[in-house]
Amino acid sequence: MVRAKSNLTEGGLIDLVEIREGDALETLSKDLPDRIDLLLLDGAKALYPEILSLVESRLRPGALVIADNADFSPDYLERVRAPAGGYMSTPFGDDVELSMRPN
Ligand SMILES: C[S@@+](CC[C@H](N)C(=O)[O-])C[C@H]1O[C@@H](n2cnc3c(N)ncnc32)[C@H](O)[C@@H]1O
Repeated sequence: MVRAKSNLTEGGLIDLVEIREGDALETLSKDLPDRIDLLLLDGAKALYPEILSLVESRLRPGALVIADNADFSPDYLERVRAPAGGYMSTPFGDDVELSMRPN
């Protein structure tokens, strides 16, 4: 979180991001914005599917989901790569999974 926050600040993007500190299973379980443009998963890999479920209904059409070290979350990969799962998904770079929710 600290590194991500300073990178966002240095990049001039901090005003576009809402930061919620604490256990993501709690902080993302309530009061979500109506529309989420980007979800970056880089916490506990085993929680990726659960975190996605928490925010999925708010992902806008075209929203991107970026999951770092996704190979450590096979359940997550199975879900976003499933033909009927609602995502277009592809491996990207070094163990990153890039997924888009078309609608
Ligand atoms: C690989 S590091 C990511 C660092 C982050 N990308 C950054 O730039 O600072 C994983 C982080 O996820 C955090 N984490 C693990 N489980 C979490 C949870 N349930 N809620 C929030 N953060 C969690 C860990 O404490 C750790 O700081």
